[in-house]
Amino acid sequence: MKYEHIHGMQIPKVGFGTWTIGGRDAPDPGLDSVSRAALRSALELGYTHFDTAEYYAGGHAEELLGEAIREMGVRREDLFITTKVSPEHLHYEDVLTACDRSLRRLGVETIDLYLIHWANPRIKLAESFRALNQLVREGKVRHLGVSNFKLKLLKESVALSETPLLTNQVPYRLPEKDYAENGVVEYCQQNDILVTAYSPVKFRNLNVNATLKAMAAAHNATSFQVAMAWLIAQPRVITIPMSFNPAHQRENLEAMNLELTASEMEQLSNLYSR
Ligand SMILES: NC(=O)c1ccc[n+]([C@@H]2O[C@H](COP(=O)([O-])OP(=O)(O)OC[C@H]3O[C@@H](n4cnc5c(N)ncnc54)[C@H](OP(=O)(O)O)[C@@H]3O)[C@@H](O)[C@H]2O)c1
Repeated sequence: MKYEHIHGMQIPKVGFGTWTIGGRDAPDPGLDSVSRAALRSALELGYTHFDTAEYYAGGHAEELLGEAIREMGVRREDLFITTKVSPEHLHYEDVLTACDRSLRRLGVETIDLYLIHWANPRIKLAESFRALNQLVREGKVRHLGVSNFKLKLLKESVALSETPLLTNQVPYRLPEKDYAENGVVEYCQQNDILVTAYSPVKFRNLNVNATLKAMAAAHNATSFQVAMAWLIAQPRVITIPMSFNPAHQRENLEAMNLELTASEMEQLSNLYSR
């Protein structure tokens, strides 16, 4: 396992996403069995960072994750659990209630990392952070972060958080360049904030991209692994791919062992900025 060392902690470079575990925006009982199997295999393979949200499957993803952790008998202290408060719950009281609901569904006493999923322009960030800071003081949450925040809001969040803001979770992947172009990635790297790159392998034509394909062949790897290796070689960048397929889950973890050369990194970065 490779880690990002930050604020006295080590956070795996590759974690496990849970979007579509148990449903999309509402529980889908038809997905329970494959979702349970996916979480079990992820835990067996050694994933320790799990990313979820109250929004995912209307809270059911959190329930299934909590259930899998208990069933597999994994020690709580060996896991790092991220979940998120939805934009419609960002008023002071609503943040506190949403956090209690997430804790209950997950069946844990503390959330390692609690994120604002998306900003809500109708609710003042200061009001949300008043509740978020309180949750940290009360020990219900260890670290705070944000998601899908552009530079201005990110800087405001850094100023409002009483503890160092741990992450901004954003779409960052080949060839998605918005968060590098808008300065967020660089700001995070310069200010000890993790960039959690979401949807790292969700892009069209990855398999047919000639550069990735050739590089993957040279490393006896897959295009997906090369794309993730490019991400995690970057300082302060971690990622959270999701897969129902144990072979893909393993492949995504093993992307950590893939060392790209400086020239390959540059080639991919150029491809990325095309
Ligand atoms: N903060 C936010 O707003 C936000 C937004 C989106 C996502 N996220 C988080 O980021 C996580 C990851 O993003 P995502 O789920 O959107 O996309 P992703 O992990 O990039 O892609 C998931 C898709 O890729 C396939 N896949 C995964 N690994 C593969 C591999 N090695 N080879 C071939 N196919 C592979 C999966 O299919 P199989 O199941 O068949 O493998 C699945 O269809 C989410 O689960 C969620 O936790 C956060």
